[in-house]
Amino acid sequence: MSTPAPGKPVYNVKNPYIARVKRAFDLSGPGAPKNTRHYEIDLAGSGLEYTPGDSLAVQPANDPALVDEMLQVLGFSGAEIVTHPKRPGEQVPVRQALIEASLVTEVDNKLIKAVIEKTGGQTALNGLLEPEKKEELKSYLWGRFVIDLLIENPAARFEPGEFVGLLKKLNIRLYSISSSQRAVPDEVHLTVATVRYTSHGRERGGVASTFLAERVTPDTPIPVFVNHGKGFRLPEPHEDTPVIFIGPGTGIAPFRAFLQERQATAAKGKAWLFFGEVSQSTCFFYKDEFEAWLADGTLDRLTTAWSRDQAEKIYVQHKMLEHGREIHEWLEQGAIVYVCGDAARMAVDVDKALHSIVEKEGGKSPEEAAAYMAALKEAKRYRRDVY
Ligand SMILES: Cc1cc2nc3c(=O)[nH]c(=O)nc-3n(C[C@H](O)[C@H](O)[C@H](O)COP(=O)(O)OP(=O)(O)OC[C@H]3O[C@@H](n4cnc5c(N)ncnc54)[C@H](O)[C@@H]3O)c2cc1C
Ligand SMILES: NC(=O)c1ccc[n+]([C@@H]2O[C@H](COP(=O)([O-])OP(=O)(O)OC[C@H]3O[C@@H](n4cnc5c(N)ncnc54)[C@H](OP(=O)(O)O)[C@@H]3O)[C@@H](O)[C@H]2O)c1
Repeated sequence: MSTPAPGKPVYNVKNPYIARVKRAFDLSGPGAPKNTRHYEIDLAGSGLEYTPGDSLAVQPANDPALVDEMLQVLGFSGAEIVTHPKRPGEQVPVRQALIEASLVTEVDNKLIKAVIEKTGGQTALNGLLEPEKKEELKSYLWGRFVIDLLIENPAARFEPGEFVGLLKKLNIRLYSISSSQRAVPDEVHLTVATVRYTSHGRERGGVASTFLAERVTPDTPIPVFVNHGKGFRLPEPHEDTPVIFIGPGTGIAPFRAFLQERQATAAKGKAWLFFGEVSQSTCFFYKDEFEAWLADGTLDRLTTAWSRDQAEKIYVQHKMLEHGREIHEWLEQGAIVYVCGDAARMAVDVDKALHSIVEKEGGKSPEEAAAYMAALKEAKRYRRDVY
């Protein structure tokens, strides 16, 4: 973690910087299957500093329309006074507490227990807290918000303070920073996929991504602070070390920051970016910037994988395998490999692809390739920021 310079303000979860969005636009075009957006947050006068590879913590607020619907089902006016869930010394209207401090899109076991008790067990939740029912409970709760439990269990009545006490707290979300302060000193940029889905007959949204996409205006205060990265850093600009960036989807974010930084510092080592999205026509995020970086030598190679532009899926790892010989050459020249984006599937498959490349191009057995990859990690030449 970098140490702030003396006299610089320190922002953290207890003392966030209250920022405003100065510019935002869609990166995904019309007809894209999902919405991904670019945000430019104003830092002028804040003293807030970050390094490419860091992420920004954003404290979102809930959708007031969802909270109002909950209040109606609960039979509260919204003005009832409760203790603020995050500031115990403060008394606030329950509506405010629910909008800014309670997690209403996930159900806590405390609430389930209370619903079971208040309905005398006459609920679909009955028994689901038993240890052997863990998977059943998970599948029941998948795609359900607190409001679903309230609607499904009208016999469960609550006092305002009691109800707020049965919810988890609404915590920050992290976003990989997609800018360099050498390029935009008074701004921090984010690249965010807006989470939207329908479940149990209701249209739903992720709290922070829809807060940014739908509820933030230029006047909306947004509490933020920097989460300093551990090791997801560029080599020093004067070094010859080649870098390979693998960032499909929103995984592109830190690599845009790295490329801005490389341009500003005239970094020496060569750079290769693998980007993947669903379609070239609707989801080629930051296309003009990448083309300009290719033209001025900030980026040496750009390889794209459009997963839905043909019958069979083409992902970044397929493109990596196609270019296996050259990737292996770069590795042998000391390249650092960076991976950012989806942890559950992409990062696992990219890891397998790297193993295959080392086996095939390096003439190694699976065990020898595993040892080679372990040595890369040990040497901090395989850096991942996956979520
Ligand atoms: C270090 C780090 C960096 C990150 N960087 C980025 C970034 O650069 N860009 C970015 O977009 N994100 C990034 N993320 C992810 C980000 O932090 C949030 O998790 C993401 O934006 C979703 O937050 P949300 O509040 O909008 O959604 P939440 O309110 O947290 O909702 C997400 C939840 O909704 C549920 N859900 C989603 N889809 C469905 C479905 N179809 N059916 C049922 N339930 C569903 C799941 O339970 C899921 O966990 C990063 C995460 C980390 C840890
Ligand atoms: N919980 C989940 O199952 C899940 C899945 C994906 C993303 N996410 C989360 O959703 C958020 C936003 O995702 P995102 O917009 O960054 O993009 P994304 O959904 O990860 O998609 C980006 C690109 O990666 C492709 N892709 C899908 N599976 C892949 C794999 N196994 N290997 C390589 N590429 C693969 C996608 O193709 P196709 O879509 O055409 O397959 C798409 O072209 C992130 O927070 C991410 O963690 C969650």
